[in-house]
Amino acid sequence: MREARPDKTRPHTLAPLSLSVHGGIRLDSTQALRTPLVMSNSYQLPEDPSEISWSATSPGLYTRNSGLNQVALEEKLAALDGGEAAVALASGVAALHAVFFTHVRAGDHVVVGDITYEATWRLWTELLPGRYGIEATFVDTTDEAAVRGAMRPNTRLVCIEAIANPTTTITDVAAIARVVHENDAILMVDSTFSPPPFYRPLADGADLVVHSLSKYINGHGDAMGGAVIGSHALIEPIKADAMVDVGGIISPFNAWQIQRGSVTLPLRLRQQFDSAQAIAERLAADERVEYVYYPGLPGHPQHELAVRQFGGEGFGGTIAFAVRGTPDTQNRFVSELRLITSGFSLGHDDSLIVHVGTEGGRVAAYPEEFRRFGHLRLSVGIEDRADLLADIVAALDRTFAEG
Ligand SMILES: Cc1ncc(COP(=O)(O)O)c(C=O)c1O
Repeated sequence: MREARPDKTRPHTLAPLSLSVHGGIRLDSTQALRTPLVMSNSYQLPEDPSEISWSATSPGLYTRNSGLNQVALEEKLAALDGGEAAVALASGVAALHAVFFTHVRAGDHVVVGDITYEATWRLWTELLPGRYGIEATFVDTTDEAAVRGAMRPNTRLVCIEAIANPTTTITDVAAIARVVHENDAILMVDSTFSPPPFYRPLADGADLVVHSLSKYINGHGDAMGGAVIGSHALIEPIKADAMVDVGGIISPFNAWQIQRGSVTLPLRLRQQFDSAQAIAERLAADERVEYVYYPGLPGHPQHELAVRQFGGEGFGGTIAFAVRGTPDTQNRFVSELRLITSGFSLGHDDSLIVHVGTEGGRVAAYPEEFRRFGHLRLSVGIEDRADLLADIVAALDRTFAEG
């Protein structure tokens, strides 16, 4: 429960907009109002350092153990997601790997959503089973019974995406959390497509939340980072293993940049989500468009779940669609865009689109039309909504005028 009087030293008293400005800010001895950028890999030790563990995860020793900017960012991310603790790492993939490396052992079994980000797919189809003898079962996580059926006595971890990349498939986090906990396993939710304050999977029973900070949370496309948020009991071992011993730390500069970018997160999300809704509706109404998957459209397979899970506060900033024609037509449409840029990433201030290929194992689980026509993943930015719509309509006109 929020207390009546907001106080920036007590993050739980702050509403999301205030939290994204004040959460995690640490004053240091310079009295600077903003956390300074500390580009130092070492800190001054006390007179007798011989008792200090070189593996400690406390700040003030060495940046691989915890630098000031990492800690400032981690505090903020934990507050934004409503978790006890967070660990910030070099990239979203480093964060995913950190969860797997720390919390799964040889001989364990994991259950993974069959629609998932490319690196998660590769980690669980190739790298981890091949090298460490951990078995993975891929399931349709929109089907609670299928997840229940996939659980085994040695299932240690279940990995899902709240809004899955790239199809925008929604998983019912609370329902899956119940199944996972009945089986004494851990639920990890990659919430990169659904950052706080829009969605907080921990409140629905997730044990660990992963974000690629390179996306919405930084929001400006100029830094890489990743984070895991959860209880002290689950995060501390990740810090010890993945941060101190494996060394996948985020640089102080990137941590500082991401902390700064995250100040405007709720404002950016509002603009992006409202524009995404308008663009999805415009695309869906255009006969030159083959299909549109956007959770805010009533025709999306999990629209009702999306309304319930995300509380009617928007449906994300990413749209999956294809224009009528072949994969070549998708490329032609992208080349006709003048404001929206072709690029791999998403969640930036600028709108990005990527034509995702139809080859590869993970594609088999996509809806049939994704494979037949190819598909475009559009990440809607904060540009003027009318400009974005005009760019899309003009590109459609030019694509189809050329036959
Ligand atoms: C859902 C999801 N998780 C994780 C990642 C990996 O993040 P990063 O590129 O920061 O390693 C991405 C990147 O696109 C993603 O979309």
